[in-house]
Amino acid sequence: MIDFKEQVAQVLAKEIDALEQAEIKNLIEIPPKSEMGDYSFPCFRLAKTYKKAPVKIADDIVAAIDKELFEKVENLNGYINFFLDKKNVVKAVAEEVEEKKDRFGGSDLGNGKKVIVEYSSPNIAKPFHIGHIRSTVIGNSIYKIYDFLGYDTVRINHLGDYGTQFGKMIVAYRKWGNEEEVRKAPIQTLLGLYVKFHEEAEEHPELEDEARETFKKLEDGCEEEYKLWEWFREESLKEFSRVYDMLGITFDSYAGESFYSDKMDRITDMMAEKGLLQESQGAEIVDLSAYDMSPALIRKKDGSTLYITRDIAAAVYRKEHYNFDKNIYVVAAQQNLHFQQWFKIIELMGFDWADQCVHIPFGLVSLDDGTMSTRKGKVVFLEDVLNRAVEKTREVMLEKNVGNENIDEVSKQVGIGAVVFQELSNNRIKDYTFSWDKVLNFDGETGPYVQYTHARACSVLRKAQAGVTTDVDYSYITTETAYELAKLILRFPQVVIDAANKYEPSVVTRHIIDVAQAFNKFYHDEHIIVENMEEQKAKLLLVDAARQTIANGLYLLGMEAPERM
Ligand code: ARG
Repeated sequence: MIDFKEQVAQVLAKEIDALEQAEIKNLIEIPPKSEMGDYSFPCFRLAKTYKKAPVKIADDIVAAIDKELFEKVENLNGYINFFLDKKNVVKAVAEEVEEKKDRFGGSDLGNGKKVIVEYSSPNIAKPFHIGHIRSTVIGNSIYKIYDFLGYDTVRINHLGDYGTQFGKMIVAYRKWGNEEEVRKAPIQTLLGLYVKFHEEAEEHPELEDEARETFKKLEDGCEEEYKLWEWFREESLKEFSRVYDMLGITFDSYAGESFYSDKMDRITDMMAEKGLLQESQGAEIVDLSAYDMSPALIRKKDGSTLYITRDIAAAVYRKEHYNFDKNIYVVAAQQNLHFQQWFKIIELMGFDWADQCVHIPFGLVSLDDGTMSTRKGKVVFLEDVLNRAVEKTREVMLEKNVGNENIDEVSKQVGIGAVVFQELSNNRIKDYTFSWDKVLNFDGETGPYVQYTHARACSVLRKAQAGVTTDVDYSYITTETAYELAKLILRFPQVVIDAANKYEPSVVTRHIIDVAQAFNKFYHDEHIIVENMEEQKAKLLLVDAARQTIANGLYLLGMEAPERM
């Protein structure tokens, strides 16, 4: 698409010899109000060089530059405001969208560079609770955004399927569990056992030792322990898959922590070779005091390895196996220190790709009654949340009497979409409280609102007599409301790039809310299905461009875009 900002920079560069064109482009702003034009160049930085007042400089530049491309160019208090030729802009936008369609906003910017996105990564035999939704949904969107920009992506679910907790689970199962119950309700039952273990261990601390020994046996490959563990894993995965199916999420690899159990010795050997390992009370640690961090425990007294050891082994494996350009971890901010520690260790081990590993943290979700803890067993299962969202959406749809023969399908798309959208609405780093009222508020800046706007656009297109074509008289869509909408669509590709650079899906979320609002204003202010066929055709083209932009945005968030609601 025509890069209008570049055009403005080019015109300015001819008159400003003190700055490079790229510098000029960087200085160009989008004015806060549309009365101030489409782009604005502040002249304040030039005052020193030219030894003139910014207003005078602006005047001189305005007088000198080639204004052919613009409707007008004005000096306002030292800012040069550029008003593009509206017809030109609307035409460029519409042609671009119609040519690219569901690829509009995407590009080959990534040039096939390999990007790993690790997300979700729940713990086996523990509930997949609403705390995990954050990593799952944010990670899925980051993956889609990178994929859309032409990166070669690999989606990894680093399952928490290893560690001392499995010692506890096995001990608890043998003492108080039975097979039938586990088969009936695997995670509920295993969670119950896990909670019981902690209650009992308060009275009988020796249980902790038993659990440690049991985990050690598992690590050493003892068959009985291994079989139980494998069974717990299998049953858990069945439950997780149900949630992933609901969310439409898939992974390229489920290589979790256990996958690295046989790759650990090599890693600890490497660390030893570099002189990084120190003995501390029989265990092995890496001292990180020089970097203002607490020491990292790498291997316990009994020889068993830890979460952090497995993360280091996993990173080395990924580099060797995938040769990534970027290795992204979408994991809660609570684990900040963990990631800082092991990124530093990787660097100290001499891996020059340490800086290609990125931790993307996010804030906590809490319920009105405090945070979630699996130890106390007070959790909300993600699957229940999603099912309830679908159920409630269905009720609202019936209440509103939305005549839809596909109500089952649509309430799924909208209910689940509502949860996903709310998750991606705020900056990821912010903590937030999960509330049903907010998630399912169908008015306001919500998923249902955006999906409904999309369905409305589809409905207009269905009802129209004319089809969508770019062979139209563009002067019909240069009114203020039409132009505002077109400009938001114009910005979409840059929004996707910004979202990728910041690893921030909410940038997309907020932008499609803006597009939806601008579309609805256009829809209410202007008659679209008018008798004048030329006018109708032009307006339909803009409707279709808005529809496509919203659909592409929803896709990047991991949501469906129903055509009827
Ligand atoms: N399983 C962990 C949890 O539920 C998250 C794993 C994050 N990924 C990682 N590579 N450490 O808290």
